[in-house]
Amino acid sequence: MNPEAFRGKRVLITGGLGFIGSNLARKLVDLDANIVLLDSLIPEYGGNLFNIAGIEDRVRVNISDVRDEHAMKFLVQDQDYLFNLAGQTSHMDSMEDPYTDLEINCRAQISILEACRKHNPSIKIVFASTRQIYGKPDALPVNEDHLLRPVDVNGINKMAGEAYHILYNDVFGITASTLRLTNTYGPRMRVKDSRQTFLGVWMRALVEGRPVEVWEGPQLRDFTYVDDAVDALLLAAACTAANGKTFNLGGDCVVSLRELAGMLIEVNGGGQYVVKMYPKERKKIDIGDYYADFTRIRAALGWEPRVGLRDGLAKTLAYYRDHLDRYV
Ligand SMILES: NC(=O)c1ccc[n+]([C@@H]2O[C@H](COP(=O)([O-])OP(=O)(O)OC[C@H]3O[C@@H](n4cnc5c(N)ncnc54)[C@H](O)[C@@H]3O)[C@@H](O)[C@H]2O)c1
Repeated sequence: MNPEAFRGKRVLITGGLGFIGSNLARKLVDLDANIVLLDSLIPEYGGNLFNIAGIEDRVRVNISDVRDEHAMKFLVQDQDYLFNLAGQTSHMDSMEDPYTDLEINCRAQISILEACRKHNPSIKIVFASTRQIYGKPDALPVNEDHLLRPVDVNGINKMAGEAYHILYNDVFGITASTLRLTNTYGPRMRVKDSRQTFLGVWMRALVEGRPVEVWEGPQLRDFTYVDDAVDALLLAAACTAANGKTFNLGGDCVVSLRELAGMLIEVNGGGQYVVKMYPKERKKIDIGDYYADFTRIRAALGWEPRVGLRDGLAKTLAYYRDHLDRYV
């Protein structure tokens, strides 16, 4: 990517105080962009002011909610890029409170797109979608042509959110591209509970000297280190080849959850894991094995994961050894 692409550009990040949004903001600060971070800071979600420690003077923070159409109308104006990352991320919460997930992951997406259509049609949008929308894979690795058959409310709403972005691109010319993220991990990920991912609570357990709890264990997964996810977001924003397109992200390797737990303990220099049965209510929305085929984004944008899983786990553990108290 051309490092000049974002210099002096006006960038809005929804969900900008969250895990991926704040890591993206850090990179954009280095690239000299003019950044607004929009976040609701709803306590149950992943936003955390500590995520922007050290860059707080280089970004503007707007505490508002993507469900507020009036705020969105104002905030999208004059922006060159919108990284649309605000979301309700918990699959279990989406089953217990489907309406809130619908409001944030689906209805608010139309408000955001309508705000752009009416007040800033030349903006470029990158939307953070998810591999959850595939549901249980028919075959592995999963490419973008796989059927979309989500197994939970969150997957259905994210699928709609993604589809609206592509629709507005195709019909209204609001340039958008969408990335289907797989498990993303790294510094600033959520560790206080498993609303974002189980890997966060594993990290916390190890740093606190408790055993990691593995549910079953043979399930296969891929993981993207957050810096790689940020690179993909920036490439999708900067490259016209991404316009109107949807891409999978993936990882440098495929591991079972037991292998992952073993690797994490090794990298930590000690610790233990225990294997437990999958809780019944979670099993119902589990997708089994998943890993992505990311050849499409590699061919179109030259993206591939650069940070190996072992290195990424080490960097993440090091971060939480220093800062766990700010995240629990
Ligand atoms: N982390 C992953 O593994 C992963 C995987 C697939 C997709 N994604 C997607 O990437 C995006 C970012 O995820 P993340 O991992 O950084 O999660 P996160 O929870 O850390 O960040 C999301 C941010 O959105 C904010 N937010 C939620 N509802 C909002 C609202 N109504 N208005 C304004 N802000 C609101 C939260 O406060 C939070 O800061 C999400 O859309 C998520 O669905 C993440």
